[in-house]
Amino acid sequence: AYIITEPCIDVKDGDCTLACPVDCIYEGGRMFYIQPDECINCGLCLSICPVDAIVYDMELTDEMRPFEKINREFFEEV
Ligand code: SF4
Ligand code: F3S
Repeated sequence: AYIITEPCIDVKDGDCTLACPVDCIYEGGRMFYIQPDECINCGLCLSICPVDAIVYDMELTDEMRPFEKINREFFEEV
């Protein structure tokens, strides 16, 4: 799945949600989150984000890795 990372915090541009064909990007608190079970890995949201916050999970750096869990846990809390 694709993961939203740190640069989204307090930026929340939101255009990624318009690009997503399955509407799996949700707003919550200080950033947006991708629901990993709904993401179809189309990559359409990737180039839309003005701050390059969206990263494919296989390409996460160690610094970005915690956001994989943060995105998943956002949806488990509900
Ligand atoms: Fe939506 Fe595609 Fe981005 Fe996944 S990769 S969040 S399905 S636009
Ligand atoms: Fe955040 Fe970028 Fe989407 S700033 S809301 S991931 S377009």
